Amino acid sequence: MKVTVVGAGAVGATCADNIARKELAEELVLLDIKEGVSEGKAQDIMQSAALLGFDTRITGSTNDYSKTAGSKVVVITSGLPRKPGMTREELIGVNAGIVKGVAENILKHSPDAIIIVISNPMDTMTYLALQATGLPKNRIIGMGGALDSARFRYQLSQHLGCSPADLNALVIGGHGDTTMIPLIRFATWNSVPVTELLSAEQQARIVADTMVGGATLTKLIGTSAWYAPGAAGAAMVESIIRDEKKLFSCCVSLEGEYGQKDICLGVPVTLGKNGWEKIIDFKLNADEQALFDKSAAAVRAMNDVLKTL
Ligand code: 2OP
Repeated sequence: MKVTVVGAGAVGATCADNIARKELAEELVLLDIKEGVSEGKAQDIMQSAALLGFDTRITGSTNDYSKTAGSKVVVITSGLPRKPGMTREELIGVNAGIVKGVAENILKHSPDAIIIVISNPMDTMTYLALQATGLPKNRIIGMGGALDSARFRYQLSQHLGCSPADLNALVIGGHGDTTMIPLIRFATWNSVPVTELLSAEQQARIVADTMVGGATLTKLIGTSAWYAPGAAGAAMVESIIRDEKKLFSCCVSLEGEYGQKDICLGVPVTLGKNGWEKIIDFKLNADEQALFDKSAAAVRAMNDVLKTL
């Protein structure tokens, strides 16, 4: 089994590191346009193999896509990250060209690959990858909801004083500070609704802190986060490679589900050997549906910018 991670920046390298530690692939190619960076980071991760005890072979490649041939899953992290005060949406002009080029190059050598898009603005980059490649919709999956849901579980765990792993909670909608929708009504602590355990004020705070989770870190660090984004990408790769059929919130092409079409947006899906396999229909109430429609309108406006580039 072979996996490629395109972009050896902090998110790409962390994703590769997680994939190696979990031994999700026999072979992992880390590709970047910057001379030597992917080779260096690949060697650095490989030098942890003796200490951590994994057998995944990681190689770096400076823009030689032939090295990625035959990949089952490809994770695209390429593009600029955001700086403090920037929205993910401001990256569209630069990142659209990069993501399109990467997706096309990947498919020349791995025509059957399942593609996970992490580059921002993620919902629009996923839509662009789908349009540009014409791949079956199940093979293009945006990573936003998986990360935002992990951040949601973190915030809930802080208020409940419990393990994030014991929480079930999903964030749907767009991967933007104002477009994501933490579904607190559906969140449970080992099946107990968290709404029964938290005050209305606490719930509002958790939802608000989740929505600006990425922006908060960008402000603190000076660039966008990588540990949780990399881990979220690797968790998605794991469910696909091991055909686990785990439920994640992922950005996928909607054809009427959740009342939307001609858009890629975060909804609950299962991930397995065919990519995203099933959309799970959570019964949203009128308020949640209104938020989802508002999120779709904002993402659609962003997708329209693609036409002007
Ligand atoms: C984040 O939210 C990278 O968009 C990503 O941190």
